[in-house]
Order: sequence, then structure tokens, then C-alpha cells
Amino acid sequence: MPVRFRWIALVTAAGITAVVIVIAVALVNGGGDASAPPGAAASPAPSTAADPFVALTPFQLRVLSFDVLEPVELPEDNPFTEAKSELGRFLFFDPRLSANSAVSCASCHQPDRGWADALPLNFGYAGSVHWRNTPTVINSAYHPKLGWDGKALRLDIQAQGAMKGALAQNMDPVLVEERLRQIPEYVRRFAEVFGPGGPWFEDASRALAVFQSTLVSRNAPFDRFMEGDDLALSESAQRGLKLFTTTAGCSACHRGRLFTDEDFHALGVPAPDDFSDDPVRQITFRYQLRSRGAPEEVYRTATDDPGLYLVTKSQTDIGQFRTPMLRELGYTAPYMHNGAFETLEQVIAFYDAGGGVSPNLDPLLRPLGLSDRDKQDLVAFLQSLTGDPIVVVAPELPPYEVFK
Ligand code: HEC
Ligand code: HEC
Repeated sequence: MPVRFRWIALVTAAGITAVVIVIAVALVNGGGDASAPPGAAASPAPSTAADPFVALTPFQLRVLSFDVLEPVELPEDNPFTEAKSELGRFLFFDPRLSANSAVSCASCHQPDRGWADALPLNFGYAGSVHWRNTPTVINSAYHPKLGWDGKALRLDIQAQGAMKGALAQNMDPVLVEERLRQIPEYVRRFAEVFGPGGPWFEDASRALAVFQSTLVSRNAPFDRFMEGDDLALSESAQRGLKLFTTTAGCSACHRGRLFTDEDFHALGVPAPDDFSDDPVRQITFRYQLRSRGAPEEVYRTATDDPGLYLVTKSQTDIGQFRTPMLRELGYTAPYMHNGAFETLEQVIAFYDAGGGVSPNLDPLLRPLGLSDRDKQDLVAFLQSLTGDPIVVVAPELPPYEVFK
């Protein structure tokens, strides 16, 4: 859907709330007295450099859709239990879910690296390489779509894809079950959670989903600010937040509690050399095009990751990627689907230049003309969305025993 229609749809759906948002935006843009009632912003004076800075209040931010996270809602057919989550923790760290028994979910989603891997592009299953940047699994239970192109719609389905995928754990589901059945402690734990007869592959993915739903970002300075601690955000971060929601236009796409519209856009992020020049990476790229049904012509001529196109096969989706959440960025560099940017400063410079080159470049991108201070302020704000590290102890894995 073209972006302006999306906006229309959004505003219509928001109904009465939209009116409130318009008033709040007028308040924000007018730079009026933050404590004045909305009507008082009706005659804003043109802002000049001499205007004193007026910070946004938690109330205004809530009207603009930003807030602390609500508790996770799990699908009805896979509710939370403590025992299921604990089983999921074991499985997340267990390399026996991979064909060569060498790579677990935690090998790529590393707890001490923001539950990602700190690499521009992931290393992939032994003997191959992955073609994309590893996203964190923190807050993944909130996303309606997962992966850079939104391929998976549920955490348990994503986990099945990770176990089976040739680039991740390269594993046969029946072999997963046989391995788990030769580990008495798993047989006992699966029986306790899912009933006797297993372990089953699908149940393993359910437990993994429930464990991941416990990895939720809290305690970011931004959250403390929203809960009433005025000093939690530096003045620079507050200026950055205001730019983010107004002149820099970031909140057109990065909105809501996770700072994402959960939609897709083409920014024209350039492919790094590591993507274009490494033959092993190119094997992965061509393999993705072919195995996901790209027509012969696209398979032969494409030079870059087509993103959402692989899911929809629509030309206008080429180069579109899911808007990532902006929480926990302090742990998850490098950034973008291809890890093209090492630092947040580089990300901001990219947006300041109006984005990159793409046939479907999003019309919301334009040169921003940010000052050096504006850029620093935006970075300070983005950093304020990172909370305390989420520490989970790796379990001591139960051994195999001959099944009787
Ligand atoms: C070899 C590295 C690797 C392994 C092993 C791996 N992943 Fe991933 N994971 C990735 C990469 C790379 C992506 C991005 C894939 C894409 O967008 O195409 C990803 C995406 C995800 C996402 C989507 C996150 C989001 O916000 O979009 C989730 C959830 C996830 N993995 C969970 C798991 C689980 C659970 C396991 C174990 C069963 C696992 N992963 C194993 C590398 C890995
Ligand atoms: C048109 C929608 C849109 C606008 C406007 C936008 N973004 Fe983004 N943002 C995205 C998408 C889509 C991606 C992922 C692109 C990719 O990987 O190719 C992204 C990626 C990012 C990332 C990297 C996150 C990660 O985990 O890799 C950061 C940081 C970011 N944006 C910040 C900003 C800031 C700051 C602004 C305002 C200056 C902004 N964005 C404006 C859609 C947008």
C-alpha cells in the first residue's frame, strides 16, 4: 500500500484518537507552553533559534503513541507456564538442536551481545554463511511479523524455521525428536509441560517461543522518564526526542512502544562489500532467491537483497524491509538488515542525506539539513532507549542416555 494511503488508513482507524494526536502535534510543533491546555497552541509563533527549548511531556508522548511496554500477550494455544519457559531456556542454549550439534539459538542470539551477535552479517551454518544481520530476540514476542522481511508470523514458527533452515541449524525435525528422546531429563520435562508421548518438534518450538517472551526490555532511561523521572533523559536526549517526532520525521515510521510501525519501507541502504564480493555470501544470496521462488529473471539479475519482495513477489516491494524496533540499540550494532552501519552516528548521517538509492525509495525520506548538535541529540535520544542488560544464565545441559 502506498505510504500516504497507509497514513489515511491509520488515521481513520485511530478515529477519535486522531483528533487528540493532531492537537498534540500542534502543541509539539508550536513549541507552546507544555503545561498549557491544547487550545492554547492555536496561534503558534514561527519558531526561531532564540525560542527557549520546551521538552515533550510524558502525557504528550503517550498521545503520540510512545510508552513503556505492556505485558506480552501470547497466542491462546501457547500460554505461559513457568515450566514451559524453563524448558525453552534449556532448548535455546542446546546445540543438539543443530545437525552438527555445534550451534544453538544462543550461538547467534548471544545474551551478552544484546541477544544478537555483534557482526554486520551473521556467520551462518558451518560451511556456509548467512546473508543478513542477526536481529536481537529481545521483545520479539511483541512483533506481529518476524525477520527482516516479515516472513514468520509467530515465534514458534520462526523457531521451527531456525532449526530447519540450511543457514541456521540445518536440522531435520524427526532427528530433533530422536535426539530429545535420548535425553531422559527432556523426556520428563516435555511430559510435564505437554503430556506424555513426546518430545515433539512443534512442542520444542512452543517452549522456545515462551522462553523468548520473557526477554523484554525494561528500565531504559526513556521508560523511567515516562514513569515520571524528569531527570532520566538528558537535555540533549530530550531535544533529540523532539527532533525525532517533528522535523527529523523519524516517528512517521518508528512509532509506538517499540518505535516501529511494524511495516515495510525501502531506505536504499547500500550493500556492504562483504555482501557483494564474497562468493560464499553470494551462494547464500542466490540460494535464497531460488528456494523462495524468485522468477528466473530476478534470480539472474538481482544484485542486492530484495527484502519484502521475497514474501510478496511484488515489484514495488523490492528493497523494502521491516522497520526495526529502536529499543536496545546500545547492544545491537552493527545496524540495518545488512549491518551496513557500525554506529548510530553513521545511521543518522545516512538519514540526514535523505537515505540511499532504491527504485522504491520511501517518499518520507528527504535531506534533513541537521546541524551537528541535532545529530548528537538524536543519537543521545536513541541511546536512551537501551535498558539494563537482560542476563540469563546458560543452563547445564542434561546428557544423552540410551533410550529403553
Ligand atoms: C546461525 C545463526 C542463527 C541461529 C543458530 C539462530 N538464529 Fe535466529 N536469526 C538469525 C538471523 C540472521 C535472523 C534474521 C533472519 C532474516 O531476517 O532473514 C534471525 C531471526 C530470528 C528471529 C526474528 C527476530 C526479529 O525481531 O525479527 C527470532 C525470533 C529468532 N531468530 C529466534 C531464533 C531461535 C529461537 C533460534 C533457535 C531455535 C535461532 N533463532 C537460531 C540467526 C540465527
Ligand atoms: C520511511 C520510514 C522510516 C523513517 C522515516 C525512518 N526510519 Fe529508521 N528504519 C526504517 C527501516 C525500514 C529500517 C531498516 C532498513 C534496512 O535494514 O534496510 C530502519 C532502520 C533504522 C535503524 C537501525 C536499527 C537496527 O536495529 O538495525 C535506526 C537506528 C533508525 N532506523 C533510526 C531512525 C531515525 C533516527 C530516523 C529519523 C532521522 C529514522 N530512523 C527514520 C524506517 C524508517
